[in-house]
Amino acid sequence: MTTTTRDADAPIHPRAPAAYLRVGVLASGRGTNLQALLDRSCDPDFPARVVAVVSDRPEAAALERGRRAGVPVASFPRRAFRSRTEQEEAIVSFLREQRVELVVLAGYVPILGPTMLNAFPERIINIHPSLLPAFGGTLHAQAEALRYGVKISGCTVHLVTSEVDAGPIILQRAVPVHEDDTEETLAERILAEEHIALPEAVRLIAEGRVVVEGRRVRILPAKEV
Ligand code: GRF
Repeated sequence: MTTTTRDADAPIHPRAPAAYLRVGVLASGRGTNLQALLDRSCDPDFPARVVAVVSDRPEAAALERGRRAGVPVASFPRRAFRSRTEQEEAIVSFLREQRVELVVLAGYVPILGPTMLNAFPERIINIHPSLLPAFGGTLHAQAEALRYGVKISGCTVHLVTSEVDAGPIILQRAVPVHEDDTEETLAERILAEEHIALPEAVRLIAEGRVVVEGRRVRILPAKEV
């Protein structure tokens, strides 16, 4: 894949009107966020398509979801490689074979290293189940939010940088925390919003409406594109 230099205030991933943004999804688990993207990909008006699914866990349900949707899938378990770099090189070459333009981390557990980050600069996004910067850098964000006693939580879609869960925020959706919530009920309420937020972020990127200005992300109105 070629990398082009863009003007500082140019949107990322500007699209020709008829073209679909080619999305590769990395997932370690059940893959409901992947499923939300696959479902949206069935809509001819949705400007992106999932064209590759990758996992670090061969048994991940996400891979089966990809297979069922007829998308090329591949697993790259860490133990099969001598180093994280070699594992990521294999992932990058698979994603390039599928001509992936945007990488989506949807419940992907490994922390990305420079090989992935440099292969897709400003083209990797992640979904996290909290309102960042609160409760970042953990796989138990919902439990921590509950324990802390926040009254509002939610989810965040952000660009991935070398700092875990700290890249520029593309969008967030909030949910109330109820008095009788358990980790499971809160996680379920947040997950429903994740399934809206992630496809929405992908759509905005595909429409060329996401402009990164340092830490801040500006969303261009539809009419300016
Ligand atoms: C989601 O809560 C996501 O925010 C987090 O991992 C979970 C993945 O869920 N990063 P699923 O595999 O998409 O169902």
